[in-house]
Amino acid sequence: MPPPAGFTIFTRVVEICVLIVGMIWVFGYLGGVGFSPIYKGENTNDPSVIFNWHPLFMALAFPICMAEAVLAYRAPIATTADKPQRKTLHIALQSAALLFIILGLVTTIKSHTLKRPTPIPNFYSPHSYMGLFTSALAVIQYMFGFYAFAFPKLSQKDRAASVPIHAFLGKTVLVLGLATMTTGIQEKTTLVQTLMKPPGGMYSPYFVLPAVLELLLMVTGIAVLFHHTGPAKSKDQGNDESFLEEGALGSHEES
Ligand code: HEM
Repeated sequence: MPPPAGFTIFTRVVEICVLIVGMIWVFGYLGGVGFSPIYKGENTNDPSVIFNWHPLFMALAFPICMAEAVLAYRAPIATTADKPQRKTLHIALQSAALLFIILGLVTTIKSHTLKRPTPIPNFYSPHSYMGLFTSALAVIQYMFGFYAFAFPKLSQKDRAASVPIHAFLGKTVLVLGLATMTTGIQEKTTLVQTLMKPPGGMYSPYFVLPAVLELLLMVTGIAVLFHHTGPAKSKDQGNDESFLEEGALGSHEES
């Protein structure tokens, strides 16, 4: 059985808090966002306003869109949605997540490349490798989901066999995304600490906000996954494969 409605509301409040705290951090303390680097003198600039889109897009991608996509069968925003509507919601949210991941990657690469006098190298950090791996997995999962379920190309037997793998990988990509965000937040915090040297000491909002953000991300992951602890509520609400016959999923009635 899915958790009570109150727990789902709590989950959504935490997701929204991630976005709000992230925005306070970015707009209040990291300099906000922009479309071109800030001019700092001849052949010198600061592209951090372009970079700052990166955490915002990633916050929209993983703890908002992908988290809601993972909830779409068990606890959709539109609680009265029937199975086909839940499937449409799931596809729409995963599409939005993928778009935000691409935008998030483009903005960080652009900010590195536009830096003057010397561009910042791309893909040098453990976070960037983790991010590339997670993004690649998200793309593979999305493409396979389309191939197998949205415009089914697989036989019914193969689709039924794919459901538990799709459900497992979907939740895995969400968890990896949240984990990658925490490494990115830690990396940015260390850069702020060493390069920006902000006023106010180590308990200033420059450091407390990212710490709060990381806690919220952990709670988001736990709260979303908790919705998947038991079998789906009913075949009509919990089974994401509307094309399958009654009972075809056996014990794997997952979303
Ligand atoms: C709040 C969330 C995030 C923050 C604060 C953040 C922070 C950063 C920082 C500071 C960099 C530049 C340094 C570096 O190259 O490592 C970076 C780059 C990168 N991030 Fe993130 N990140 C976040 C989320 C994510 C997520 C969720 C992914 C992918 C799933 C991701 C993927 C990448 C990649 C691939 C790069 C390398 C880009 C390049 O080298 O040009 N990041 N991130």
